[in-house]
Amino acid sequence: MTDLVRLERDGDVAVITIDNPPVNALKAEVRAGLLAAIAAVQDDSRIGAVVIRCAGRTFVAGADISELGKPAMQPYLPDVIEAIETCPKPVVAALHGTALGGGLEIALGCHYRVALAATRLGLPEIKLGLIPGAGGTQRLPRLVGPETAFAMVLSGEPIGAEEAQTRGLVDAIVPDLDAAAVAFARKAAARGQPPRTRDRSEAIAPYGADPAGLDALAAKHAGRPDGRAAPPAAVEALKAAVTLPFEEGIARERALFVALRDGPQSAAYRHLFAAERAAMRLDLPAGVAARRIGRAAVIGAGTMGAGIAACFANAGLPVVMVDVSAESLARGRDTIEKTWAAAVQRGKLTAAEMERRRALLTTATDLAAVAGAELVVEAAVEDMAVKRDVFAALDTIAPDAILATNTSYLDIDAIAAATRRPGRVLGLHFFSPATVMRLVEVVRAAETDPEVLATGVAIARTLGKVPVVVGVCHGFVGNRMLRVRTTETERLLLAGALPYEIDAALTEFGFPMGPCAVGDLAGLDIAWRMRKAQGARAEIADRLCEAGRFGQKTGRGYFRYEPGSRTPIRDPEVEALIVATSATLGITRRPFTADEIVERLLFPMVNEGARILAEGIARRAGDIDVIWVNGYGFPAYRGGPMHWADAIGLPRVRDRLTAIAAETGEASHAPAPLVVELAAAGRGFASVAS
Ligand code: 3HC
Repeated sequence: MTDLVRLERDGDVAVITIDNPPVNALKAEVRAGLLAAIAAVQDDSRIGAVVIRCAGRTFVAGADISELGKPAMQPYLPDVIEAIETCPKPVVAALHGTALGGGLEIALGCHYRVALAATRLGLPEIKLGLIPGAGGTQRLPRLVGPETAFAMVLSGEPIGAEEAQTRGLVDAIVPDLDAAAVAFARKAAARGQPPRTRDRSEAIAPYGADPAGLDALAAKHAGRPDGRAAPPAAVEALKAAVTLPFEEGIARERALFVALRDGPQSAAYRHLFAAERAAMRLDLPAGVAARRIGRAAVIGAGTMGAGIAACFANAGLPVVMVDVSAESLARGRDTIEKTWAAAVQRGKLTAAEMERRRALLTTATDLAAVAGAELVVEAAVEDMAVKRDVFAALDTIAPDAILATNTSYLDIDAIAAATRRPGRVLGLHFFSPATVMRLVEVVRAAETDPEVLATGVAIARTLGKVPVVVGVCHGFVGNRMLRVRTTETERLLLAGALPYEIDAALTEFGFPMGPCAVGDLAGLDIAWRMRKAQGARAEIADRLCEAGRFGQKTGRGYFRYEPGSRTPIRDPEVEALIVATSATLGITRRPFTADEIVERLLFPMVNEGARILAEGIARRAGDIDVIWVNGYGFPAYRGGPMHWADAIGLPRVRDRLTAIAAETGEASHAPAPLVVELAAAGRGFASVAS
């Protein structure tokens, strides 16, 4: 065979081993090796049955994602799986680790599946803007029924081996995979002609008799249209499994898969898949490694502090939450416990696990309680003097600990300078709600040691977050770009757009909420107070606040809200106030199309991203994309702001920025030097190396 696929014999059982580290992805050589191995055993009269297994940490985790953007190479996976399924000898898949995507599709083509108990099985293609393309949508429903198949394909979430067995996806859970798989295969050979998944009809028959049931499944699992192309395609393919003969269904699936694979959304998701992993990689000097964190402390029991403390307990780490106010501590702890109790109620958490988490979380009013922690995360009020005091005190109380601040805007170099060891200080910028949001900006200050940075990235991963390393500047990457969008929202309102038009343009673009509704949710008064303190003004936002319209909390902001409802409703009062404000300022209003609104809000943000990149605050354009997708709701199917701009083409972005700068008179909207340079060279942001 090849190095990647080995064929060995265990008596009368052929054992085919795929060995393509790290995750046994199905690159062309693996597919070719597998096909050759099946052909060889088919003609070998000494062989009565076959086992397909994988070396290393996992069964095949799918097609090779890096191949998906390139011209397809033979043999194609559906043909390999067809050869497996039509093999006249029983083929048993021996599953461990994560059998995902094309990996699970191979297993579905096998005649039997045995698994270790810890195996996870899934079809995650939807998370890459795809649908299964090698029979997954056709064979899975035939084994487990449409209900489970719709749930698995449309969520992309894997299920455990036990559940898989209950649902008919796994035939046996075994303690010793290799020996058990061979024994299973041998017994199967004795039973004679193996069943082929494609020929099974019991599980789909009820829906075949009543295809209307499929619409109910589609409505339940696909949800409302949200701009993603993959969910409707998945529904179509899954329906075809029930309503068409196998050959036609699989042809339908393949056509839908190929169209998605070659389209822009899947390219965007693949970009994010690679960008998330690149963001976690640090090019550290030799010998530098992350420190082990066995115990953490969080300073501050407000919304952020409590959320961060909960993240540690959720990940199984002991954590002490410290606040000078016993009342705040009690409130913070109460909030955390309510979240856990709600998770228990929803069946997402066991009562025992909740108790374990409760025991991991302790509280204290005395800062001295942080003494045993190896990592301290400060989430006190956003005030430089307070933070410097805390860090100076921590310097003495926890002399060996890594000190992190959760500041959103403050200069971390200045905070670090309050200690005698600035090398051990960094930023860990969590997003609210901290237990839900996946993003953590890991802020590297001027003197942060590489080991400390590595520890920041590693601990964020331990907490299940997506860490992205950024440099120090006002607002770091995410909030610095957000500020540009907020300023432009105000400018557009004055220039002629109304809140509902702005929000509709951005939700249509794919954001879960528009900027006006986000402002109402967060509370308009916070930024208003900050502006007042700085002597700054934002005419419309200020006038709303002066009229007592602070957003959802007062039932009125850019929109109006019915009591107890979070649905924004257009408010003629606000629209009149906006029109009047434009008139007072002598601005002649004009209408804006949705496309123009998107460009006016997002191109200046991309421009700021270009500056961030040029300054080295972000190491790669992909880092900025990961931040905006995971922290700010930028639609993943557009790949993040920088990928989106690359896809449009930087010459157009440059020209539109030039026009926007001319129309608004805002010099900062003139294309940044990096945009100009890349556009002239016919390159994109993705080509900028750190
Ligand atoms: N193709 C190519 N490389 C892959 C890969 C794949 N399918 N899956 C993972 N890798 C690579 C990663 O890029 C990473 O490389 P790096 O070390 O150079 O950064 C390495 O394998 C390890 O991956 P992770 O860091 O993600 O390791 P984890 O242990 O955290 O997770 C995993 C392992 C659960 C397998 C996770 O990598 C994963 O979810 N992979 C994607 C699985 C997937 O989406 N499969 C479907 C592909 S599409 C398909 O099969 C189409 C078919 O229907 C025709």
